[in-house]
Amino acid sequence: MKRTIRDIGDVKGKRVLVRCDFNVPLDNWGDILDDNRIMAAIPTISYLVERGARLILCSHLGRPKGYDKFLSLFPVAVCLMRQFPNKVKFCSKVTGTEVDNAISKMKDGEIILLENLRFDKGEEENNPEFVKKLCSMADIFVDDAFGTSHRKHASNYGVALKMPSAIGFLVEKELTVFEKAFKAPAHPFVAIFGGAKVSDKLNLINNVLNMADTIVIGGGMAYTFLQAIGQNIGNSIVEHDLVDDAQAILDKAKQKNIKIVLPIDHMVAVKDKKKAIKVKEIENGMTGLDIGPKTIKLFSAEIAGAKQIMWNGPMGKYEDPAFKEGTMKIAKAVAKADAYTIVGGGDSVSAVKLCGVSDKIDHLSTGGGASLKLMEGKILPAIEVIDSL
Ligand code: 3PG
Repeated sequence: MKRTIRDIGDVKGKRVLVRCDFNVPLDNWGDILDDNRIMAAIPTISYLVERGARLILCSHLGRPKGYDKFLSLFPVAVCLMRQFPNKVKFCSKVTGTEVDNAISKMKDGEIILLENLRFDKGEEENNPEFVKKLCSMADIFVDDAFGTSHRKHASNYGVALKMPSAIGFLVEKELTVFEKAFKAPAHPFVAIFGGAKVSDKLNLINNVLNMADTIVIGGGMAYTFLQAIGQNIGNSIVEHDLVDDAQAILDKAKQKNIKIVLPIDHMVAVKDKKKAIKVKEIENGMTGLDIGPKTIKLFSAEIAGAKQIMWNGPMGKYEDPAFKEGTMKIAKAVAKADAYTIVGGGDSVSAVKLCGVSDKIDHLSTGGGASLKLMEGKILPAIEVIDSL
């Protein structure tokens, strides 16, 4: 069992380096479009603040190559200032004299947010010198950046190897939810997958074949499966090199008596107009861009009968308002189900939010790549290195 912040003893007056995942979407004006990841870190931050720790928060934002003013964490600092009035300071540097001075002046219960870790190339390289600098800032390390735990970077993997470490409440919650969902799933367990590519979800589907009762497949990835069963797919997106893998999944599911549910109609674009069309009627020149009304009904019926649902990936070209209906209707169906519900992946989570049904979902995961790895049954390296009890 990993050590959690409940197990680190008295933190009063101690400097605690907390790795968060504040990788949030920003608009062109630097306004935060979705603060889910910031809010998800609040329980850990509050717990440490209330106990008089001196918090040094750090995170990456985006994928900068060196300094990039559009990827500063300052907007995140402003958001934290609202949550913890008069307690938060922003450091415009990642390491160096400004940071050291600010830390030396900290009082118990105060918070410093460092600038974007990825402005220093030592972060992604897990550079030993950079790790040393981060370690020198604190007495204890807390990893609460679930979304980054599939990375072996300096501020998670590197630091945890060198300092007394623990996981925060968010990481603990994410691990507990996924472990329970996979080790002791409620049945019927319906897994819903979407998104453009089968290649992104191949390992995940193979792992879920060991525990789900039904697998519902929509989105661009469905066309590779439809091609595998000999359906015409017109000009829809397909991964030709994965048709055999898709067939192998269908065969394995049949052997294990697991139901695989594929679309029976699509929304296609014909001369700039959208039109619902049955799967077998799709012609060359037509591209399926969303699931159609009959598929929505079919998928919703599967969802309604579930006791556990896991959803990852949109049902169509969700970013185009003309083709987002399938994803939105599935979000509503998942929210309505009398089941334990887990939603992961940026588009599915944002669909749930856009529909205003987030409070009806049991767990909205903060991890994109990290939750995929976990669902694939893989180890998360940054969590693996955290001290155990
Ligand atoms: C995420 O958004 O999935 C995490 O913050 C990790 O970001 P990365 O893929 O840029 O490492």
